[in-house]
Amino acid sequence: MTIALRVENLEASVRDLKILKGVDLSIPFGEVHAIMGPNGSGKSTLCHVLAGKSGYEVSGKVLVNGLRMDDLDVSERARAGLLQAFQYPVEIPGLDLSVFVEEAAVSLGNPAEEAAHRIAAKARRFGMERFLDRAVNSGLSGGEKKRSEMFQMAVLEPRVMVLDEVDSGLDIDTVREVATAVSEMRSPDVAVLMITHYSRILNYAEPDRVHIMIDGRIADSGGPELAHELEAGGYSAVRSRLGLAAPRKVPPAPKMSDIFTDTPFDL
Ligand SMILES: Nc1ncnc2c1ncn2[C@@H]1O[C@H](COP(=O)(O)OP(=O)(O)OP(=O)(O)O)[C@@H](O)[C@H]1O
Ligand SMILES: [Mg+2]
Repeated sequence: MTIALRVENLEASVRDLKILKGVDLSIPFGEVHAIMGPNGSGKSTLCHVLAGKSGYEVSGKVLVNGLRMDDLDVSERARAGLLQAFQYPVEIPGLDLSVFVEEAAVSLGNPAEEAAHRIAAKARRFGMERFLDRAVNSGLSGGEKKRSEMFQMAVLEPRVMVLDEVDSGLDIDTVREVATAVSEMRSPDVAVLMITHYSRILNYAEPDRVHIMIDGRIADSGGPELAHELEAGGYSAVRSRLGLAAPRKVPPAPKMSDIFTDTPFDL
């Protein structure tokens, strides 16, 4: 079993804030893994760091198909086969989607003619034809942007696909559509890491493993039943099963009358 993505003791900080605190993860080719986790637990940061986004202080190892990623930037990692679909896809005014995706495909080593063919076929598959001559993501609805991300993935055919909440903000039918697209992209040459908050997409995309990220670490891993446990009992049930402390509550702001005792502020 060849490992597509191996992550060892990955730590990442922004300024003094440590976000990833030792992530270990191993995804063989052919498998789909999901990461679920509470808001702010570090899931998007993990995706960004895997993709090589700058601005983080990083330690630990990331290997794609056995190749160390440490000194590679975003485009070099893309050429090594790792691509990320964003939780919040960016708008790029002035750059048409067809031009963007064709240039990306060519820069990843695809001949221009083959890229154009694939763009046409995948645009039909994802219902993206009418967006091809529009600026990337400009004026698209939330769901259309997510569909565009999946279309780009399908054209660029990465070996390791990192999908950050491709299902958030989607209507019920589109969740199923996106999950079907993920299943279609499953192959012995591809590994998928998908971040999600909802078990609904996992019912269709059928992950091999589900991981739970809490406070910058993978706290638990298992089969799809983990997603159902979460759905039923929330993170508090998982935390208590794992013996993890409840998240710190933000203390209530003091009332002005507690500070200025001689002035009737809160009347
Ligand atoms: N550039 C940054 N500067 C400061 N803090 C950051 C930065 N990036 C992330 N964080 C903080 O790190 C924590 C993890 O953020 P991240 O976006 O990875 O969470 P997440 O698990 O993806 O959450 P969500 O489920 O809400 O998308 C949050 O508390 C966030 O505010
Ligand atoms: Mg996120």
